Amino acid sequence: MKELSDFEHKGWIKFKFDQRVAHWANAANSKITSKLKNKEIFDNNLTCQGTWFVGVDALENDTNGALGEISLSGPFESLMKRTEARGLHAAQVSIIFEGYPKPRDQESESSFNYRLKRDAAHVDGLIADFPGGPRKLKEPHAYVLGIPLNQAPKGASPVVVWEGSHHLISKAFNSLFLNQDPEKWKDLDVREVYMQTRKSIFEKCKRRVLYANLGESYMIHRLCLHGISPWDFEIKNFNEGRKIAYFRPELQHLADWPKLS
Ligand SMILES: [Fe+2]
Repeated sequence: MKELSDFEHKGWIKFKFDQRVAHWANAANSKITSKLKNKEIFDNNLTCQGTWFVGVDALENDTNGALGEISLSGPFESLMKRTEARGLHAAQVSIIFEGYPKPRDQESESSFNYRLKRDAAHVDGLIADFPGGPRKLKEPHAYVLGIPLNQAPKGASPVVVWEGSHHLISKAFNSLFLNQDPEKWKDLDVREVYMQTRKSIFEKCKRRVLYANLGESYMIHRLCLHGISPWDFEIKNFNEGRKIAYFRPELQHLADWPKLS
């Protein structure tokens, strides 16, 4: 299957327009729009000085991704089934507004610079308890599926990926975890290997912008380095913000996490 080999080679895949995806996205957009009329919910999820609504678990979909009668179906289905994952969680709805990024909460100057110059690039699931603290594999996701909920201008903070970076992460973590019981992976501090690998990814891998229209979608390999690009300052008055729903279900088997397939 060509799409599987492309995905495994590059670490990302963009799917063409699909009416079913557009239909689901429009329904999700109406739901989130009415939910965010509740100012408390909206304000509690805003960060980066009002330029990012983080929206973790914001969408009330079922474990198949359906919104009531509207099922989540589209060209990504076969890739979703390729890894054994748990049921779908309530989708994150990430909304970026004009001016992103601004410093987040107590963000240090160097972290903010990383957000601005390096798109806050990260591999999902490797979480630090506090800035600069030990980093551990806490959320072993199966994949990241991104679905735009509205038609946004191209420069409205699209997601970026470092093509092929999943190969480097896989190699580094396979060596780190070699001969370690998967039960103990969650206790290991992976800071050093993660930082070193990230550095060599910036040197070796191409940064690709994954702009997607309404009705399109993309999938990112769980080990692929990705981030959010800054808002193009020439884009003005797109006040609804660019909205993307993300599904990142957890793997059924932790031992699958460092694998490429
Ligand atoms: Fe992410």
